[in-house]
Amino acid sequence: MRIIVTGGAGYIGSHTVLQLLEHGHDVAVYDNLSNSSPVSLERVQELAGREVRTTWGDLLDVEALDDFFDGFEADAVVHFAGLKAVGESTKIPHQYYVNNVVGTLNLLAAMKKHSMESLVFSSSATVYDPQNPLPLLEDMRRGATNPYGRTKQQIEEILEDVAASDSSWRIAVLRYFNPVGAHESGRIGEDPVGPPNNLVPFVSQVAVGVRPSVRVFGDDYDTPDGTGVRDYIHVVDLAAGHLAALEYLESHSGLFTWNLGTGRGTSVLEVIRAFAEAAGKPVPYEIVERRPGDVAVSLADPSKALRELGWKAVRPFELMCADHWRWQESNPQGYPST
Ligand code: NAD
Ligand code: WQD
Repeated sequence: MRIIVTGGAGYIGSHTVLQLLEHGHDVAVYDNLSNSSPVSLERVQELAGREVRTTWGDLLDVEALDDFFDGFEADAVVHFAGLKAVGESTKIPHQYYVNNVVGTLNLLAAMKKHSMESLVFSSSATVYDPQNPLPLLEDMRRGATNPYGRTKQQIEEILEDVAASDSSWRIAVLRYFNPVGAHESGRIGEDPVGPPNNLVPFVSQVAVGVRPSVRVFGDDYDTPDGTGVRDYIHVVDLAAGHLAALEYLESHSGLFTWNLGTGRGTSVLEVIRAFAEAAGKPVPYEIVERRPGDVAVSLADPSKALRELGWKAVRPFELMCADHWRWQESNPQGYPST
């Protein structure tokens, strides 16, 4: 297949582009580099021994987007491009709505104009209403609690309306749980700008000595050890989910939603312990106040993806830590600046 990947220079995008190339697909990336380095795709090309067509452009630049679509006739689009920091989204919500929602509307218009109607969209477990019972199933209530999450929820609603209006659309909505880890080579991985918001990149930077200690946000939750429990998924398993969804869309029209998680929960303290084990060094931490907006537990029921896509996350948490650590240790400052 010929695949367009928006946001393909980013963390999940770069791992997915690598797998697409390894499976023989031709890939064209469109990314504005607002949260990524061009080095990620240089390394992806080295690892795959194949080329990616790259265009550094913004989804908000309608003309550039149109030119890009004119230059690459694709069978499907995988849409990662978006802003993703929950805390930042509460400070600059307007930028989040414009970038994520308007960016997606521009993408849909360009796709329709070029008669490309097959789309895989990066959604998030954050769209679920926290009042839902666990584990989370795809047909449970949405009710995002922050602007970032609401951009994802609104995009899901837009995609549902678009698919209902015209049976030529084929759309996969993938709700990721907590992606961590890196490619086994240690050449590509997550490279956050500034202090990481997410737990595993933070723990990893403490282990490598970039930061002194982890702040554990609360130990009085109703969980076995009192700290928050999450469904961490290896980014390589997550990337494989996109290939499975693309394959499914080849023979199905309409809109489909799948959770991509493992169904297994790991607490903050378990993360710190497992990471220290993988890194072979202690990871200092302190217990601090709860972080506003956090839930005690988030857990996927991933059985729909197994049933319908034949996809299942297979990499255990220890491997997520080992792979994340290999990337961190060999790139302590992330990608080199260009
Ligand atoms: P990332 O920031 O590493 O990648 C996103 C990429 O999109 C970046 O390369 C960025 O430069 C690009 N981008 C952003 N806005 C753009 C625009 N207007 N035009 C062109 N390019 C643009 O993030 P990631 O972790 O790889 O996440 C990918 C997608 O998955 C995002 O949509 C995110 O919301 C979603 N998601 C991520 C997580 C997670 O924890 N990492 C969880 C659930 C969902
Ligand atoms: C995990 C656990 C924290 C940092 C977020 C987004 C979600 C999705 C994935 C995009 C929680 C605790 C964290 C730290 C800590 N992203 N923690 N100290 O909040 O489950 O999900 O990323 O869609 O939308 O909300 O992930 O990694 O931030 O937190 O104790 O320095 O670690 O309280 O229990 P979260 P996280």
